[in-house]
Amino acid sequence: MTDHHAAHDAASGYFSEGKSEEVVLARMAGDMSPRLQEVMTAVVRHLHALVKEVEPTQQEWETAIQFLTETGHMCNDWRQEFILLSDILGASMLVDAINNRKPSGATETTVLGPFHVSDAPRYESGANICLDGKGEPLLVTGRVTDTEGRPIAGAMLDVWQANDEGFYDVQQKGIQPDMNLRGIFTTDGDGRYWFKSVRPKFYPIPDDGPVGKLLRQMGRHPYRPAHIHFIVGAEGYEPITTHIFTPDCPYLHSDAVFGVKEDLIADFTKIDDPRKAADLGFPNPFDAVTCDFVLATPQQRMKG
Ligand code: BEZ
Ligand code: FE
Repeated sequence: MTDHHAAHDAASGYFSEGKSEEVVLARMAGDMSPRLQEVMTAVVRHLHALVKEVEPTQQEWETAIQFLTETGHMCNDWRQEFILLSDILGASMLVDAINNRKPSGATETTVLGPFHVSDAPRYESGANICLDGKGEPLLVTGRVTDTEGRPIAGAMLDVWQANDEGFYDVQQKGIQPDMNLRGIFTTDGDGRYWFKSVRPKFYPIPDDGPVGKLLRQMGRHPYRPAHIHFIVGAEGYEPITTHIFTPDCPYLHSDAVFGVKEDLIADFTKIDDPRKAADLGFPNPFDAVTCDFVLATPQQRMKG
């Protein structure tokens, strides 16, 4: 090859292994959106670096394409296999971490997951969200405050959890009552809320698709440690999407989606108080957990 040809390599668009990124990046038009340009530049750089590191055979590349194709085919209105893929690779938690950087002082956040519904019933404090009476009774109480510890009245808590067998209502239509183990509560003037529920159980993420198969091939289990989901919001504050975890779950240190943070592991206690138990309609002693939440303002988050 002459010098003349070498000089024109990238600009003319002729492809070579050594200049692969350069040639592809040189094709982007100058007038594209700056953010798309930034993102696509990173995509091309990292994709080419990956391919150069792995040096896939033609057949391996087809396997990768086939995997992504199956992942797409698995998606429908209620199953999002690409989000599961992002979850098990830690990408969902990384995006969450980047978008909820400390130190805002707010409660830590974690993944939303696929089992939230937008039209959960609204309840007064004290309601029992377990509609079928199945499971070990649990009293959930807590407070929502600002970062100075001042109560936030009228804060909304959207709560959902799996039952004592590790299934959400939406996974067991016709077996569990609709809207079992979900509800929306509002804090009182002192920032307090409370409700009755049952202890949640650990469960596998949906693993009957390509992501489950990949997990098995990587020698990983599909389980999430037992938890209760919360979205907590109030006028003038940044909403948080989070969970609380039970402290004694066997999967606490190997969550399939990396959602556990130390601050989110809650203190479950046994309460031995026959009168209180009778008031609640619970056996004595019974389990209780305190879930307090701290909300930051948008201004505080910008500083963080
Ligand atoms: C969940 O906690 O509901 C969940 C989160 C990520 C993937 C699957 C389930
Ligand atoms: Fe969950």
